[in-house]
Amino acid sequence: MTLTTSSPIKAKLPNITKVPVLIQTIQAMFDQFGLQERYCKKYGDIFYTPKSSLLPPYVIFSNPQGIEQVFTADPNSFEISKQTTAPVRLLLGDYSLALLDGIEHKRQRKLLMPPFHGERMKSYGQTIRDITEKIISQWEVGQSICIRDYTQEISLRVILRTIFGLDEGSKYDELRNLLVDWLDIFNSSWKSLFLFFPWLQKDLGNWTPWGQFLRQKKLIHQILDSEIELRQNNPDTLGDDILSLMVSARDEDNQPMSKAEIRDELMTMLFAGHETTASTLAWEFYWLHYLPDVKQKFMTELNSINDLTDYNTILKLPYLGAVVSETLRLNPVVALIGRHLTKPFELMGYTFEAGTSLFFSIYLTHQREDIYPEPKQFKPERFLERQFSPYEYLPFGGGNRRCLGYAFALFEMKLVLTTILSKVEFELLDNRPLKSVRRGITFSPDGGVRMKVKQIKS
Ligand code: HEM
Repeated sequence: MTLTTSSPIKAKLPNITKVPVLIQTIQAMFDQFGLQERYCKKYGDIFYTPKSSLLPPYVIFSNPQGIEQVFTADPNSFEISKQTTAPVRLLLGDYSLALLDGIEHKRQRKLLMPPFHGERMKSYGQTIRDITEKIISQWEVGQSICIRDYTQEISLRVILRTIFGLDEGSKYDELRNLLVDWLDIFNSSWKSLFLFFPWLQKDLGNWTPWGQFLRQKKLIHQILDSEIELRQNNPDTLGDDILSLMVSARDEDNQPMSKAEIRDELMTMLFAGHETTASTLAWEFYWLHYLPDVKQKFMTELNSINDLTDYNTILKLPYLGAVVSETLRLNPVVALIGRHLTKPFELMGYTFEAGTSLFFSIYLTHQREDIYPEPKQFKPERFLERQFSPYEYLPFGGGNRRCLGYAFALFEMKLVLTTILSKVEFELLDNRPLKSVRRGITFSPDGGVRMKVKQIKS
């Protein structure tokens, strides 16, 4: 509920954390989920940290009523915080959809939404299957693989195709290689530190992570810029891909998007559209092979399908859907989502001032015993037995900023899983409990899930 500025504001705050923000940030870098769990145990499902030189005052909460209050509030109650989103800005750029507010945000979402939903989305079904089959064809029986490398390769190719309408050629290869190397710069907590601490952002040459980060980013921008110019100057190169959509778009004053705006949006789609899907897919392979019962039920359902190109049927397979949902519940790739207050706001009976950041925790909400009994157990059946509200289950966030690509991600993951597992049998080499570890601003299974190819059906 939003209060008007004239409402009397009671100085009433939830439990206040005692640990200095610098220490909290370092702890969050190395053990985000453990930290959240410890704080929730100590302070409850809403706790507050006062303003510091590093961050504005912030609240972390994991209560469905609170989440509902945020998702259903007037979007103008919130804005993007410059301080808390600094790492996202470094990666994606100032004009990223994830960093826009108000009318600009609404307009860009409307423009970018169609390719990721409905029939337009389903028209990528064959591309997703073709790309996946190409990847399988590289494997040999007996080979040990890190499955995340391959799910990343698939999701990167798919998003490049959606964005540029192409998935091969020298320009594609160059961009693909640069992106993979760039993302590898922060493939661990240590290497991600510079994203979160500005004083580590010193360009001391190519051998420092920050130096590497800047140089690679510049190269990626150069390729994107040349592709944007090509489309702007040659209308016959325009197709139905996202880049063409953005190049053709005009605002109310008939002005086109600037090159920087288009470039940051391309970076957003490239990043948000493949890292997250790649890590979730890796977790899905892990759970299916770590729990033989789950794999058996999954295969029984898969074997009952005659036509794997019948995408409508695949999208509706109950057990497949439940495996995907349970993975996103137990292993969310985004830990916390923030909304920064533009005006006083009442949340769960507490009143927070403008300038406070509200962070709802996807992880802690998905770990609530009262909603998910035995929350640490992987149990797809929970999703067959009951429906969860959007405030209890929120792997894609919610409200007016809900993930733009959620339907596309679900579609892609279901097609990749069914295509690979209808042909390939694996043995899980990482047959042990796996931790979720930081990869820049998202989370991924530790080591990327090592598997051995046991059999490939023709
Ligand atoms: C398993 C895969 C994915 C997960 C778990 C995921 C998760 C998320 C989450 C949690 C958010 C923040 C939502 C909020 O603030 O309430 C988000 C935003 C976003 N995601 Fe995804 N995402 C996935 C795949 C994708 C894909 C395939 C795309 C393709 C375009 C995409 C594009 C975006 C964009 C553009 C935003 C910013 C939306 C906005 O601020 O309006 N994501 N995603």
